[in-house]
Amino acid sequence: MNILNKNMIEFIKKIPKAELHIHLEGSIEPEMMLLLAQKNKIRFKYKTIEDLKKAYSFEDLRDFLYVYTQGTKVLKTAEDFYNITKAYLEKSYSQNVLHTEIFIDFQTYVRRGIASDVIMDGTWAAIKEMNESKGMTAYLLLAFLRHLGAKSAMETLEEGLKYKDKLTGVGLASTEIGYPPELFKEVFDKARETGFKTTAHAGEEGPAEYVRNSIEILKVDRIDHGNKAMDDPGLVKMIVERQIPLTLCPLSNVALGNVNHLKNHTLKKKLDMGMLVSVNSDDPAYFGGYVNENMIAVARALNLTKKDIVKLAQNSFISSFLPENKKKEYLEMISHI
Ligand code: HPA
Ligand code: ZN
Repeated sequence: MNILNKNMIEFIKKIPKAELHIHLEGSIEPEMMLLLAQKNKIRFKYKTIEDLKKAYSFEDLRDFLYVYTQGTKVLKTAEDFYNITKAYLEKSYSQNVLHTEIFIDFQTYVRRGIASDVIMDGTWAAIKEMNESKGMTAYLLLAFLRHLGAKSAMETLEEGLKYKDKLTGVGLASTEIGYPPELFKEVFDKARETGFKTTAHAGEEGPAEYVRNSIEILKVDRIDHGNKAMDDPGLVKMIVERQIPLTLCPLSNVALGNVNHLKNHTLKKKLDMGMLVSVNSDDPAYFGGYVNENMIAVARALNLTKKDIVKLAQNSFISSFLPENKKKEYLEMISHI
């Protein structure tokens, strides 16, 4: 095993960073999940931590999404959303994640009779508290579940417009293959026109064409994952030239079998080609860690240098939806480390 020196681990832990790709429900740790299931008297499929951990071995994205969706069933009240958001923010802040952009989902809950107000009130209360006590910032991105189709996404966007002051943008998540980006053109046009920032999962398991079409047809500001873009040299050139951010999630890619080993992850290659890549956790409670665990694992597997880590931290702020003056402040902070 490649030994990462202690100095480097400390450096990764201490450098200020942003997280840009995290699904709120993917951060519910097993202990919290069982507590919530008990409190809300949910007839939950998993009874013990061991049951849960045993279920956390995935063939692919579809397999994972089934378990992930089971996990969302423990949530019921605004207080539940507050508790999971607070736990995620505190954990991230302890890793020197000073800004985060969190995917939330309305569609899963609406069908269970949980109103969007419940989700927004709970998450927002935690965000406000962490901002006031620590100065940490968190933006919310409303993710459309692509397997539910464009009509449902449009209805969800309409619902999201009620919270224009609390939502920064929209994203596209869930099963990728079979649900190409162009299905959602109208929704993304409307989201952009109403002032939302936009991002889409693409090239996680789907082909390079999905990445290209997310950029050219959906006109997204950012791509989540984007690994498969590497199969299309013309697309790579465009991503580099236009500095389109890719939010990479190394431990997620291995957990879902999209990359067979971290040593074969293209993160370093992308970095060396001048792509604007950052390191993110995706679903930290399921895939083996938060931002720092992802950075440490990938630094070890790909022999990253301190210069690479600085670049990844800078990229995380540059790729964020923060205003330019805040980005500058954070970049300045990194330059003094
Ligand atoms: N991909 C797509 N949708 C998701 C994921 C993911 O990794 N995590 C939660 N929803
Ligand atoms: Zn994701």
